[in-house]
Amino acid sequence: MASFDVIVIGGGPGGYVCAIHCAQLGLKVACVEGRETLGGTCLNVGCIPSKALLNSTHHLHEVHENFEKMGLMGANVTVDWSKMQAYKQDVVDGNTKGIEFLFKKNKVTWLKGWGSIPEAGRVKVGEEVHEAKNIVIATGSVPATLPGVEVDEKKVVTSTGALALDKIPESLVVIGAGVIGLEMGSVYKRLGAKVTVVEFQDKILPGTDADTVKAFHKILTKQGFEFVLGAAVQGTEVKGDKVAVKYKLNKDGSEASIEADAVLVSTGRKPYTEGLGLEALGVEMLPRGVVKVDDHFQTNVKGVYAIGDAIPGAMLAHKAEDEGMAVAEILAGKHGHVNYGVIPGVIYTTPEVASVGMTEEALKEAGRKYKAGKFPFMGNARAKAIFQADGFVKLLVDAETDRILGCHIIGPMAGDLIHEVCVAMEFGASAQDLALTCHAHPTFSEAVREAALACGDGAIHA
Ligand code: NAI
Repeated sequence: MASFDVIVIGGGPGGYVCAIHCAQLGLKVACVEGRETLGGTCLNVGCIPSKALLNSTHHLHEVHENFEKMGLMGANVTVDWSKMQAYKQDVVDGNTKGIEFLFKKNKVTWLKGWGSIPEAGRVKVGEEVHEAKNIVIATGSVPATLPGVEVDEKKVVTSTGALALDKIPESLVVIGAGVIGLEMGSVYKRLGAKVTVVEFQDKILPGTDADTVKAFHKILTKQGFEFVLGAAVQGTEVKGDKVAVKYKLNKDGSEASIEADAVLVSTGRKPYTEGLGLEALGVEMLPRGVVKVDDHFQTNVKGVYAIGDAIPGAMLAHKAEDEGMAVAEILAGKHGHVNYGVIPGVIYTTPEVASVGMTEEALKEAGRKYKAGKFPFMGNARAKAIFQADGFVKLLVDAETDRILGCHIIGPMAGDLIHEVCVAMEFGASAQDLALTCHAHPTFSEAVREAALACGDGAIHA
């Protein structure tokens, strides 16, 4: 029986970061992972492969829509789907092997197999039982299923199957206008598919800042997306080469159906906590398989911790990573902490959508006095040069103190721009602090500064 200070179950962004940081802090650590490769959903069948496909199809879009405008003539680019898949796999392999290298470098033991917890202080992997002073559950999540929808990962797919369809479908129905649906919908739209998104709510991206949603909806419609909003999907039926998606409109209960070559089910994810033996261990659970933890990520069973998608909160790789870091600190006797008020969210479409902190709607609901400084990318030279001047930066600040409370960006590189605001928020900065900071010209970042200026005497270029 091997003995460790910490055994982390799950080698995704939460788990592998936790394991590496435990090792950095001098703990003897192992990470259990049953996949052939490390990196979890994110690196293998999530964030990373989808970004590869978003990258290649974005270039295709540029060729078709913008090359001629820039004086690049005669480009006759065709799509080789299997080569695009191979490129995606290369990107995945490079990243998963990178984690394996980091494990070796940091002396993290990879216990290959699926783990369970037969009792506190023990982790079973295959037939072997290992000893651990502390155990961290970082098992992530799996796609949630929908009644009446049978996923075969060929014609009716989750995000996993959507990354590797046999061929590019001529038509795709996306169930759920959330992050996965809009990112993967963008991939296939750019590859020429007719994409129809069926969403239960009467708007896309529920929970996102309303201004951003309005602008994004308009941009996606201009890109050719079709939306059926306020519609609850009732089920799917495979009919030969086609799949029919039946839905009911919330406003009058009327029923309708659309046919497509493929259907993507992207209606959320649920924690992957089955098979760990948590019930027998007496771990207190919340509904839908969510593990209940205290402020220090510890379950009600001493020495058993949980992080990431398995516990409450946003199902985001970087939220899991931060929790992994925090737990490692706690297990090393330090003070681990995650600031849930400053966790950015990014959608990697074109344009990108990014947000952090409070939305305007949440501020209104809380009765908080705020000011909004908004700057359109139309006033940003770089954005205009790359045909991405739709969109804006909106900064929300406290009306009295000018302290930044939230930021919502739709535009080029939004997912990178947001971090300037995240750092500012971590330091309790005001919009004036951002406005007084010199920003290089010409950059997209100037739009953030202009939004900060708009919270004061006014933006210069608007
Ligand atoms: P989501 O929670 O973002 O969106 C699901 C959508 O499906 C919602 O708009 C919901 O109203 C709708 N819906 C639910 N039931 C429905 C029904 N019967 N008929 C029609 N619509 C229905 O979930 P998604 O996109 O599957 O993503 C799962 C998780 O993965 C999320 O937590 C997301 O944040 C995360 N993720 C994050 C990414 C990123 O940060 N870029 C990329 C991919 C996933």
